Amino acid sequence: MSFFTISAFMICFSIVAGESCTEITENLHYSCMGRNLSSIPPSIPSSVQTLDFSFNVIKHLQKTVFPVLSFLRVLDLSRCHIKHIKNDAFYNVKNLTTLILTGNPVTYFGPGCLNFLHNLQRLVLVDVGLVSLPLQMNNLTRLRELRVGTNNLQSVSLPPFMSSFKDFSLLDLHANNISTIKTDHTVVLRKIGRNMTLILSRNPLLYIEPGAFKDVYLRQLDIRSAFVSFAAQKVGLKALYGLNVKKILFGKFRGDFKFEYSDANILDGLCSIFFQEVYYYISDRPDELISIFPCMINATIVVVKNGVIGDMEYVFFHELKELYLISNHIAILPGKQLSHLHTLEKLVITYNSELFSAATFIDMPKLQYVDLSSNRITLKRCCSTLLSGTPQIRYLNLSLNAEIDLDVGAFDGLDSLEILDFHHTKVVDMGCLSVLSNLKYLRYLDVSYSSITYTNIYCFYGLSSLNVLKMAGNNFQGDVVRHLFNNLTVLEHLDLSYCHVVEVHSSSFKNLQRLRHLNLRGNNLMAIDFLTHSNLKQLTSFYVDKNSITSIPLDVLQKLPTNLSEFDLSSNPIDCSCSQTDFILWIIKNQNILKQPENIFCQSFSLSSDLRAADFDIVSCVHKKRLIIVLSVCFVILVVVLSVLAYRFQFYLQYCCILLRGYRSPGQQECSYDAFVIFSSYDEAWVMNELMENLENGVPPINLCLHMRDFQAGKSIASNIIDEGIMGSRKVIVVVSQHFIDSAWCRFEFELAQSRFMMERNANIIIIILEDVEERKTKKVFGLHKHLKKNTYLKWSRDPLSNMRFWIRLRRAIISTKQ
Ligand SMILES: *[C@@H]1O[C@H](CO)[C@@H](O)[C@H](O)[C@H]1NC(C)=O
Ligand SMILES: *[C@@H]1O[C@H](CO)[C@@H](O)[C@H](O)[C@H]1NC(C)=O
Ligand SMILES: *[C@@H]1O[C@H](CO)[C@@H](O)[C@H](O)[C@H]1NC(C)=O
Ligand SMILES: *[C@@H]1O[C@H](CO)[C@@H](O)[C@H](O)[C@H]1NC(C)=O
Ligand SMILES: *[C@@H]1O[C@H](CO)[C@@H](O)[C@H](O)[C@H]1NC(C)=O
Ligand SMILES: *[C@@H]1O[C@H](CO)[C@@H](O)[C@H](O)[C@H]1NC(C)=O
Ligand SMILES: *[C@@H]1O[C@H](CO)[C@@H](O)[C@H](O)[C@H]1NC(C)=O
Ligand SMILES: *[C@@H]1O[C@H](CO)[C@@H](O)[C@H](O)[C@H]1NC(C)=O
Ligand SMILES: *[C@@H]1O[C@H](CO)[C@@H](O)[C@H](O)[C@H]1NC(C)=O
Repeated sequence: MSFFTISAFMICFSIVAGESCTEITENLHYSCMGRNLSSIPPSIPSSVQTLDFSFNVIKHLQKTVFPVLSFLRVLDLSRCHIKHIKNDAFYNVKNLTTLILTGNPVTYFGPGCLNFLHNLQRLVLVDVGLVSLPLQMNNLTRLRELRVGTNNLQSVSLPPFMSSFKDFSLLDLHANNISTIKTDHTVVLRKIGRNMTLILSRNPLLYIEPGAFKDVYLRQLDIRSAFVSFAAQKVGLKALYGLNVKKILFGKFRGDFKFEYSDANILDGLCSIFFQEVYYYISDRPDELISIFPCMINATIVVVKNGVIGDMEYVFFHELKELYLISNHIAILPGKQLSHLHTLEKLVITYNSELFSAATFIDMPKLQYVDLSSNRITLKRCCSTLLSGTPQIRYLNLSLNAEIDLDVGAFDGLDSLEILDFHHTKVVDMGCLSVLSNLKYLRYLDVSYSSITYTNIYCFYGLSSLNVLKMAGNNFQGDVVRHLFNNLTVLEHLDLSYCHVVEVHSSSFKNLQRLRHLNLRGNNLMAIDFLTHSNLKQLTSFYVDKNSITSIPLDVLQKLPTNLSEFDLSSNPIDCSCSQTDFILWIIKNQNILKQPENIFCQSFSLSSDLRAADFDIVSCVHKKRLIIVLSVCFVILVVVLSVLAYRFQFYLQYCCILLRGYRSPGQQECSYDAFVIFSSYDEAWVMNELMENLENGVPPINLCLHMRDFQAGKSIASNIIDEGIMGSRKVIVVVSQHFIDSAWCRFEFELAQSRFMMERNANIIIIILEDVEERKTKKVFGLHKHLKKNTYLKWSRDPLSNMRFWIRLRRAIISTKQ
């Protein structure tokens, strides 16, 4: 009740102003709570309007403690160890409207300490050790509230001048030491006006002089736990006769001393008090059932809490509009007692254990609001059997009960229902019948955890006004969920959490264009693709936490409803791999709309690691990607280079193959020619006219392999050279000339020949020097120079004699083959 709540100050710490105070609203509102200060720090601007200076140390409160703060309205000096309050202490803060001095051990109030506080409206002097109200409050003519609870006051009497305080409306005297109230104590109360609240709870009242409150008009009287004993309460209530009070609260707080109930008529005194609203806090288990209601028959609001009523007595209430029976161990629903009550609008019977009911509430034309929740009721027939002749019913709460069986036509006659709550109550037959079809005004339906299995797509047929549908913790049979919501076109809030939903079809929500809140928490969904086709343009919050979603494709994320501001994706087994970088990047970028983004974890196979999706190392994925690209490029380059090389050296490669082939079949190869002639085409004339003429036509004839004559057509030159020439001939004749040296083909052929015979360790290369070549030039041809130095060669000359010798030697060289 205290005007300030400390927590309010704690919530919004923003900037620390100056030394140690906290600025709550710039220039207006500061908190210096608990700073061990003894005066107001200079950092507080003179414009301050609200200052919390509680829990500091000001032993002597005097004028100099405060600088001039002429705008200050609210000052809290709770628990500042104040002992003395000097005259004119508040001179510099004279425009205060609220002054709080709670919890100071004040031993001295200067007679003029409240001088100048002409605007003061609330004065809080709770727990300051007051023993009387001698305070000089004459000038506080605007005072509205005086809170002097938890002191040692012994009387309710107010100083006479207070009767002129026109706005005075609250006197809180709770927890003082008031034991008697006499007629002359209430003189001022009687004069002070009709709008006052008097709180006398927790006083040790023993005696009230009868008639002390006669003709006193109060707005509210709180006498909970205000009497020392049961007897004192009974007598005290009687002594209050003639009191007019709008709202009276009596009974006791839980845990107070136990009353001894000796007779059933303890509340008789109430009959001579005029009141409209009565709040009776029994907070006890009387041994005997007490008669509660007879003196309440003229009340408009009756609230009875925390007692044992058993079976309610029959009372004919004249004007009762609201009846609350809360936590009263009522055993039987008071249908009979309340039926035909034409004034009752609101009925609340809650928190009664094991309430038995076969009751019906009949003919209550004004009844609008019925709350029978938390009673563990089992209703075998509902609901038009429970309520009939109640055409105005708008609100029906049957939640937290045991079991309710719906009839066919369950809501006939209850057509005005707007709010219906069955949550945590087993509801039988809701899932297969379309019993709600006449509730065209129903706005709110809660059937969460009601053990319903929906089998009928027409369950919600006719609910054309339904705004909120909560159906968490139920089941669907087959494909029902796909059609169930088809006609709920004005639905804004749908809770389908914990419903074992595995898949949502995109047409399930196709007509829910007004849907703003969709809760699918705790299902088994793996995808939310349905969102993209569902036309849920208005959706602002969407919960799919605690499902089995591993990833969401980028195109789905891009098509999320534009106004989505709350998206709960936490506690899903998010797949954090490099293939999901788009999704994870999206998570990182959209932390503002994600609810509990810190709980979006990567799916992990080891229990120990709980990596947050937002902490996943995307950079390393980028590196990996780059590495793969670089490697692929390298590979391509390598292949190209190898191909080029292979092309460039295809003859050698082929030759190598052939050699390998040769090795593989080392057997003697059949040679078709005696010699293969390597020569430049410029020397063709000599070869044809001389060489061929002499060797092939001689005796024995020597079979030469000449490329222009013997190479097979259609075969590549290289293979011809190798297959026919070098491999197919026993010897190789090399015709060295200037042209030979210059010809790349010849050099190549010679190299091949050399490598063949080197392998076979045969000096089967016969060199004919057709014309002299410079030594320097012979070095150009690989191996030729060396060959000429190491081996004898034949030299052609035009001289016929040496010519003759030449042919003989050549022929011998070709024939004399040692294989
Ligand atoms: C509060 O201030 C006084 C001096 O003003 C000092 O003696 C005392 O130790 C302080 N207490 C705390 C808790 O800082
Ligand atoms: C303080 O109250 C006086 C009237 O008592 C008024 O004249 C003056 O303007 C007020 N000062 C401020 C700063 O509101
Ligand atoms: C009331 O206020 C006036 C000044 O406004 C002062 O002179 C007088 O002493 C005050 N009376 C009391 C009882 O404080
Ligand atoms: C309460 O008042 C009675 C006299 O009415 C007195 O004897 C008793 O000591 C007071 N109790 C306290 C706690 O001051
Ligand atoms: C009665 O007092 C309350 C505050 O306690 C106030 O809001 C209300 O306006 C007052 N009514 C009348 C008629 O004075
Ligand atoms: C209820 O009001 C009627 C008159 O309206 C009065 O006669 C009767 O005594 C009242 N009963 C109680 C218990 O207040
Ligand atoms: C129904 O009663 C329960 C328990 O008292 C309460 O929690 C719930 O909010 C009520 N339902 C509505 C719609 O007011
Ligand atoms: C939806 O409304 C149409 C027209 O009133 C009706 O034909 C259809 O059966 C309804 N569907 C469901 C599932 O309620
Ligand atoms: C999104 O919200 C704004 C304002 O809250 C509203 O004007 C707009 O129509 C909404 N967009 C959609 C698609 O509902």
